[in-house]
Amino acid sequence: MQLLQTPLGRINPRWLARLEKILRRIPSVQAMIEKEYQEIMDRLEPALKPYRGDFSAFSRLPGTGRAQQEIISEMEALRDREAARWKEGFVSGAVYHGDPAYIDFLNRVYAIHSQVNPLHTDLWPSVSKFEAEIVSMTAQMLGAGETTNEFCGTVTSGGSESILLAMKTYRDRARERKGITRPQIVAPETAHPAFDKAAQYFGIKIIRTPVGPDFRADLKTIKEALNRNTIAIIGSAPTFPHGVIDPIAEMSELARKSGIGFHTDACLGGFILPWAEKLGYPVPPFDFRLPGVTSISADTHKYGYAAKGTSVILYRGQELRRYQYFTAADWPGGLYFSPNMSGSRPGGLSAVCWAAMVSLGEKGYLEASGKILQTAENIRRDIESIPGLYVLGDPLWIISFASDAVDIYKVMEYMAARKWNLNPLQKPPAVHFAVTLRHTQPGIAEKFIAALRAAVEHARANPEEKGETAPIYGMAARLPLRGVVSEMLRRFADLLYKI
Ligand SMILES: Cc1ncc(COP(=O)(O)O)c(C=O)c1O
Repeated sequence: MQLLQTPLGRINPRWLARLEKILRRIPSVQAMIEKEYQEIMDRLEPALKPYRGDFSAFSRLPGTGRAQQEIISEMEALRDREAARWKEGFVSGAVYHGDPAYIDFLNRVYAIHSQVNPLHTDLWPSVSKFEAEIVSMTAQMLGAGETTNEFCGTVTSGGSESILLAMKTYRDRARERKGITRPQIVAPETAHPAFDKAAQYFGIKIIRTPVGPDFRADLKTIKEALNRNTIAIIGSAPTFPHGVIDPIAEMSELARKSGIGFHTDACLGGFILPWAEKLGYPVPPFDFRLPGVTSISADTHKYGYAAKGTSVILYRGQELRRYQYFTAADWPGGLYFSPNMSGSRPGGLSAVCWAAMVSLGEKGYLEASGKILQTAENIRRDIESIPGLYVLGDPLWIISFASDAVDIYKVMEYMAARKWNLNPLQKPPAVHFAVTLRHTQPGIAEKFIAALRAAVEHARANPEEKGETAPIYGMAARLPLRGVVSEMLRRFADLLYKI
């Protein structure tokens, strides 16, 4: 694939996509690419399937059921192999709280509600209560103040679902109100892929605009991208790749003046930024206090410290939220409606989310945010002190960095071999570390920096070393044939479902 990289990189991407389609129909090219896929998957497979041979595997139902205790023991053994890495703070993001006593508390709450299905509003009105209060507490935290009647929303299964629903909502409203049948949204290139997913699922065109040298959205190109089919502009607070906050005030004002929606994706920042602001950190406005912001996604299952599987989508105005709902009035199975994408849902997770929020309270979130932000400040300063590394943009607690001296993916690989998990980024090649409460434990940040320093020194001293995964990331980041990279991701998904 190296062969295909350099000269093709100079061609216009649209032409390149066409050329790629043609090239891939050529049998010899097809065979060459197939061989590469296979080699890459073979290299990745052992890390993805570490339990082969050590644990029983089922490709069909066991004839008779296994003993419950045996199942529990096996699951505990699996947990024990995996938990240390995140518990001890080696992992970027992923587990945001992780204190054992706190997890026990959430697990007890789940156990009480494990049979609850919010679809059955008659059987479990308790879960409607939890969800209504989760939405209200989140809206109030994000600038709704006491006027929560105007601001509303629903609980969803995660950030992606919140984003999908918001985009569907804008699409349906624009169709009904303005007769827009070819809707488009405008999102900076750093906005989460969930917006592309929404565009794919719901037949919306997405225009991706470039970001500036500070990795924040560029207002001018957003303005230029608007047309009469535009239904919403998107901004992030902060962005996943670089942890920076887009100029939401200017962007949302542009949306307001254009009579379209503005979505703040605060999936990552919704439960930190309000507290960061109170603690005196430089937080530009991003929430409902800006009149142009018409929806916000905020993930309770990230820095809201709930269990995995909940998020909140908020709207300015009940009228907007109604476009999210699904109703079926004529089904022989009865009158049917669902507020979000799923039918039956795990009410236990909403109960856990509510319990997380009311057990932590404002004081808990403020303290947690303070610890994370302080630790991140130290980590950022220390990364900047490592020769050869530099931080991208001006982040608060999701710190992305690159190198002008070594291959950053080799640094990542060296770290991974020593349990440290970083998130690989591209355009430009970089990595990030999302600081969580796990890293605020004594000594973790120092250990991280020492490992990072050693990784950079190692990469400097061994430039000829190829590495295992580093070349794959390097190739995937630089290969101009993006269809080939997409297909590689599909093969990867296939691999996950291989026993
Ligand atoms: C900014 C941002 N938006 C959306 C999402 C999607 O959230 P989820 O993975 O919960 O679907 C993420 C996930 O990391 C994110 O960082």
